[in-house]
Amino acid sequence: MTPPNATERVVPRHVAVIMDGNGRWAKQRNLPRIEGHREGANAARRTITKAAKAGVSFLTLYAFSVENWKRPAREVSALMSLLVETLKRYEKELAENDISLRAIGRLDDLPANVRKQLDRTIQRTAHHRRMTLILALSYGARIEILEATRALARRAASGQLNPDSIDEATFASALYTHDIPDPDLLIRTSGEMRVSNFLLWQISYAEIHVTSTLWPDFAETDFQRALADYATRERRFGRV
Ligand code: FPP
Repeated sequence: MTPPNATERVVPRHVAVIMDGNGRWAKQRNLPRIEGHREGANAARRTITKAAKAGVSFLTLYAFSVENWKRPAREVSALMSLLVETLKRYEKELAENDISLRAIGRLDDLPANVRKQLDRTIQRTAHHRRMTLILALSYGARIEILEATRALARRAASGQLNPDSIDEATFASALYTHDIPDPDLLIRTSGEMRVSNFLLWQISYAEIHVTSTLWPDFAETDFQRALADYATRERRFGRV
């Protein structure tokens, strides 16, 4: 018999990924860290294509955290260049696959050339509908929550919002992800059991899949395995 919530279970509507292990992948090969990130961009491309084919509607990739600004300037600048290069290279492919690009995070912190390319790819893919790819850039969940709190507090202070009326939906509407459903599945690579300040509000009920595979090695089969793992989970959302 088909379980009553089978459609909810089969394919996650929103998959969020903490792409970890690029540095270790490079180190194992005596390569500079940026080579790990470069191979990581290829893994991202594979994952994006696979997710779209599998019927995922939203895919969020944690590409750069607010904490990542503290890495050596050379690595930060190499990552920024890689981002621009990758966006330029895959803009057409995103469009051909009917995928639109979005970005969440403190986008004003990004260098002007990155911001410009990002805005361009977002604008050029805006009408695509098969899947939305969301890049988390200069993203931190705590700062996202603080920014939302400040925005709501300002509206309350000006009399536009009754503080007692603030519920989960009001709060969620002030987050970067206001029009994006919460992730159903969170994937983390390289075996670390952490959520690293990623979508803390939004992952409240997400299923978590951790694999020891380093991100640059993450293959279509790994993504398929994560989806199969998700399909076995019984999601109760606190009910019995
Ligand atoms: C984590 O590995 C990865 C990052 C901080 C950057 C992720 C960026 C990419 C995959 C390339 C660009 C992607 C797109 C979608 C354009 P790490 O450096 O923390 O690895 P480590 O923990 O082994 O040191």
